[in-house]
Amino acid sequence: MKEKIEIIQADITRLSVDAIVNAANNTLLGGGGVDGAIHRAAGPELVAECATLGGCATGDAKITKGYKLPARHVIHTVGPVWHGGNEGEPALLRSCYRRCFQVAHDNGLTSLAFPAISAGVFGYPMTKACEVALTEAKTALAANPELERIVFVPFSAEALAIYRETFEKVFA
Ligand code: AR6
Repeated sequence: MKEKIEIIQADITRLSVDAIVNAANNTLLGGGGVDGAIHRAAGPELVAECATLGGCATGDAKITKGYKLPARHVIHTVGPVWHGGNEGEPALLRSCYRRCFQVAHDNGLTSLAFPAISAGVFGYPMTKACEVALTEAKTALAANPELERIVFVPFSAEALAIYRETFEKVFA
């Protein structure tokens, strides 16, 4: 099962997978960070489709086409803002990953790439965010044998080291 997981330090907008996941905000109308990069790379048709979706609740996920991206689709999810960890942040972040896997399954998608949802502007500590990401991936792989490839995309060398270390723990 663990051979289906890849950890690559990269710009997620360059990856050719069925869907890349966007760490968006409740409006789905774009922003900074990975959200800004995805909208820039996909072109203006992406925000036009997003504008038809009526926003997205924290912990939920919605799918669009990928437009000019090499990825066929974008799954937009909204992570929680970190307020210290006692305001439901872990459950909301878990929900993001679960909803992304559910939406992928509903649309017959078998390869996905995830950024470190909530671990940038939203302030979720990287190590804790990474534990959620990898444990949810493990659960999804066990439940969905058709899932072929899950790529985690840390954006810095520091994040890459955290993903590698957490992977060894979660898949020991
Ligand atoms: N590829 C992969 N990862 C990236 C890229 C990229 N091109 N660019 C940044 N990252 P963030 P959040 C990493 O802030 O914390 C937006 O304004 C980044 O280094 O993008 O969920 C939205 O509109 C970090 O590790 O997302 C929301 O308002 C990770 O992606 C808010 O930010 C997530 O950082 C969402 O904040």
